[in-house]
Amino acid sequence: METLSKICRIRELLEPEKRAGRRVGLVPTMGALHEGHRALIRACRQKSDVAVVSIFVNPTQFGPSEDYARYPRALEKDLELCRAEGVDLVFAPEAQEMYPKGFATRVRVEGLSEKLCGAFRPGHFDGVATVVLKLFEIVSPDFALFGEKDFQQFVILQRMVKDLNLPVTLEALETVREKDGLALSSRNAYLTPQERHLATGILLALQAGRACFEHGTKDPDVLVALVRKTLLESGIETLDYVTLIEPETLETPIQAYPGCRMMVAARVGRARLIDNVRL
Ligand code: PAJ
Repeated sequence: METLSKICRIRELLEPEKRAGRRVGLVPTMGALHEGHRALIRACRQKSDVAVVSIFVNPTQFGPSEDYARYPRALEKDLELCRAEGVDLVFAPEAQEMYPKGFATRVRVEGLSEKLCGAFRPGHFDGVATVVLKLFEIVSPDFALFGEKDFQQFVILQRMVKDLNLPVTLEALETVREKDGLALSSRNAYLTPQERHLATGILLALQAGRACFEHGTKDPDVLVALVRKTLLESGIETLDYVTLIEPETLETPIQAYPGCRMMVAARVGRARLIDNVRL
């Protein structure tokens, strides 16, 4: 496995592979890798001739009062996981390599980026779109893998790929969870044992919403109210949003239907946790 930090080196290494017609897969990450990331890396390994993982805590997707400085970093451990999963190439640049002095370009996927998490994290998805477009330009992958946990992120990136005619296919994989249902997230590290226990209420509330839909309730307001009430009753009191959305537009449908998603963003202690389920 090669670990590289320079863009020109990545290109040097990958160009002959591409010319030889080998299939390059990319898993973009911010590191502190967990079993959710591992599932993406495994799938990438299976589907590609050359499996690339990027590890970069991207400063432009953090707001000024967010957790960029204290975001967990564990490069050595991450490299071990990548090696164990048979990754060919890890791209782990410094911030100056990605954003040299004078950097001035931002990619914005309008409309989709201002909804849901975007309303609480202004500019966040511009940072995500910008860095992912850069990674696509640097690695030129045939495909890239993302997690459904960050569903809005995936919808936005798919829009970007379509709008800019990027020659890459995106795929989303199911959320990997702890045994008790909590979605794996690097930010779970911020939870105290008591908060960690509280956080299991998120999936339970989403599941209550889904069960209600399966029993015939189609009114989004009723379903959302139930999820909200279940969250509050479980002790999760600070909710950024609970919303039912259609997958492409991120708008609330008039009636719930199979394929819609129930989305939650909640604050538990110092952590902002997001999760969603498909109805
Ligand atoms: P990060 O939070 O490190 O996540 C990297 C990828 O892992 C994302 O596609 C995310 O959806 C996926 N992922 C996270 N938790 C998961 C889980 N429990 N199950 C399955 N997949 C999971 O998302 C980012 O980084 C960044 O925004 C990035 C796309 C790398 C751009 O900086």
